[in-house]
Amino acid sequence: MNITILGTGNMAQGLATVLSKAGYAVTLGSRDAGKAKAPAGVKVEDIKTSAAKADVVFLAVPFTAVAEAVANAGGLAGKTVVDLTNPLTADYMGLTIGHDTSAAEEIQKLAPKAKVVKAFNTIFASLFQSGGKVGATPATVFVAGDDETAVKTVGDIASKAGFAVIQSGGLKVARYLEPVAGLNIALGYGKGLGTSIAPTWLRAA
Ligand SMILES: NC(=O)c1ccc[n+]([C@@H]2O[C@H](COP(=O)([O-])OP(=O)(O)OC[C@H]3O[C@@H](n4cnc5c(N)ncnc54)[C@H](OP(=O)(O)O)[C@@H]3O)[C@@H](O)[C@H]2O)c1
Repeated sequence: MNITILGTGNMAQGLATVLSKAGYAVTLGSRDAGKAKAPAGVKVEDIKTSAAKADVVFLAVPFTAVAEAVANAGGLAGKTVVDLTNPLTADYMGLTIGHDTSAAEEIQKLAPKAKVVKAFNTIFASLFQSGGKVGATPATVFVAGDDETAVKTVGDIASKAGFAVIQSGGLKVARYLEPVAGLNIALGYGKGLGTSIAPTWLRAA
């Protein structure tokens, strides 16, 4: 399976590392492929080329950059597209949209023929350095989307990369998952808990 990650920043580097270690063929899609760095075993290409060959495309760019990235990637028709963005305010302490929509649903509108799946938005980039673990416990990736096959594919990828997975429902559930990421940021940065934290859901056996 070919995985392309659009972006070369913190999330892209971390994801590329764990996905490559898990055995996937990973390419980073960059606005400046000549300058961008990548972990060992990971290629860097321009956005259009990298997206064209991908089965799964991760959007590891700011939410405000998604429209441009999707357009440069050729629209992403038919691709499984993983939205890990959070639509944050400039100070990172609020969300710019919510309640009756979500970043994921807005991205689905921008790429109507893509199979958009929300995942990884509650995972701090630093957790990739510990192989997806908080201490000895795998962090939870919440996965939400409307295409069953795409949702299963993304859950399997997260699982192979070392994370626990909670299948969370349709894409609309992103309206809940994005505020959960907001709480994670408020606790990590606002309350000083740091970034070796991750939300999960407990259930009695
Ligand atoms: N960092 C976290 O812990 C974390 C956790 C969960 C979710 N997220 C979400 O993950 C996404 C990426 O965050 P990050 O921390 O990795 O950010 P980052 O380190 O600032 O990296 C952002 C990347 O996006 C690229 N980019 C910006 N505008 C673009 C455009 N118009 N077209 C293509 N690429 C563009 C940048 O490319 P250049 O290098 O060329 O500028 C850079 O590679 C955000 O939506 C964020 O909300 C982050």
